[in-house]
Parts: sequence; structure tokens; C-alpha cells
Amino acid sequence: MSKEIMLREVEAQDLPFFFEQQMDPDATRMAAFPSRERNAFMAHWLKIMKDPSGVLRTILYEEQVAGNIVSWVQEGEHEVGYWLGKEYWGKGIATSALSQFLKIVMDRPLFAHVARHNTASQRVLEKCRFIPFISVKPTTITGVEDTDEIVLRLDIID
Ligand SMILES: CC(C)(COP(=O)(O)OP(=O)(O)OC[C@H]1O[C@@H](n2cnc3c(N)ncnc32)[C@H](O)[C@@H]1OP(=O)(O)O)[C@@H](O)C(=O)NCCC(=O)NCCS
Repeated sequence: MSKEIMLREVEAQDLPFFFEQQMDPDATRMAAFPSRERNAFMAHWLKIMKDPSGVLRTILYEEQVAGNIVSWVQEGEHEVGYWLGKEYWGKGIATSALSQFLKIVMDRPLFAHVARHNTASQRVLEKCRFIPFISVKPTTITGVEDTDEIVLRLDIID
């Protein structure tokens, strides 16, 4: 399986795939994260691609752009996030991608903010040895007001 799932640097040609993936209503519900319209989305990605504190990778599955995984610094804390196109869900891709990413990003502690109902993402993190740090708090996810989130934390470096 892991041979089929690879990370590489993000290229400009990946952005239209990421854009479509974050437009999916099932995905935005799952992540409790609103989609961005095209201009805002492209502006956001062009900005984060210039941020030296960020680590951005494209997730490839059988050489197709399955999604992205990113790390950034927010209020002094290192954060991780990821997003897959719906057709790639349920194949172990996120778990493998995160486990590969944790060998690239060695900052610890590393935090992840997850909507309380997003059990898939919580499982991905737990399988990579993140532990719940704050079990439920009002969300800090931009643009979302009615969802609690769980904060998970990783201290281990493999
Ligand atoms: C969350 C997401 C990354 C999971 O990716 P994935 O590749 O399908 O996850 P995996 O296949 O590695 O599965 C990991 C675990 O989650 C479970 N899982 C997958 N989809 C699930 C679902 N819809 N509901 C409940 N559990 C689910 C799997 O069974 C597996 O657990 P197990 O090993 O105990 O069986 C993907 O659904 C996604 O991109 N969603 C939209 C964006 C998002 O939510 N991003 C994360 C924001 S914090």
C-alpha cells in the first residue's frame, strides 16, 4: 500500500485539484471548514506557498493528486492539517500520508484541531500516536461557529 501513497512538494498544477477537493460539501461538513471560492482559495495557497514556516506536500495515490497535507505555525504552535478528495477516502491514504509527513516535519509538540464529529480524522491522528490534549473546546476553525473541536497533540518523534 505505502508504495502507492507518496508525498511530494506542492506544484502550481496541483492547486485546481485541491480547489475541487475543498469544494465538496461532504468534506466541508466532515471537516466543519467552509470552502473558499476560487480567487480566495488561490490567493490563500499562493500565500502559504511563500511562508517559510510552512511545510506543504501533495499526496499522490497511484500517481494521482489525492489531496494535500500541510504544517504551519499559528500563535507559536506547530499545526498539521490534511484534505483528501472524496474518491480517495477509506483506503488508508490519510494514515499513510500523515505517517510519512511526520518523518519530514519533526517539530514537537505538533497539534491538530479536529471537529468533534470528525471521527475519521481523529482515528487518523490516533493511529499516528497523537493523543487528545483538549477534549472539547469551542472551535477556532475559521468561519465555523456551531461546532466544538478536539485538539490532539503529538510529542513523539519516531
Ligand atoms: C478525514 C480524512 C482525511 C480521512 O482520510 P482517509 O484516507 O479516508 O482515512 P484512512 O483511510 O486513513 O482511515 C483512518 C481511520 O478512519 C476511519 N474512517 C475513515 N472514514 C471514516 C468515516 N467516514 N467515518 C468514520 N471513520 C472513518 C477508518 O476506518 C480508519 O480507522 P480504522 O483503521 O480504525 O478502521 C478524509 O476523509 C478527508 O479528507 N475528509 C475531508 C477533510 C477533512 O476532514 N480533513 C481533516 C480535517 S482535521
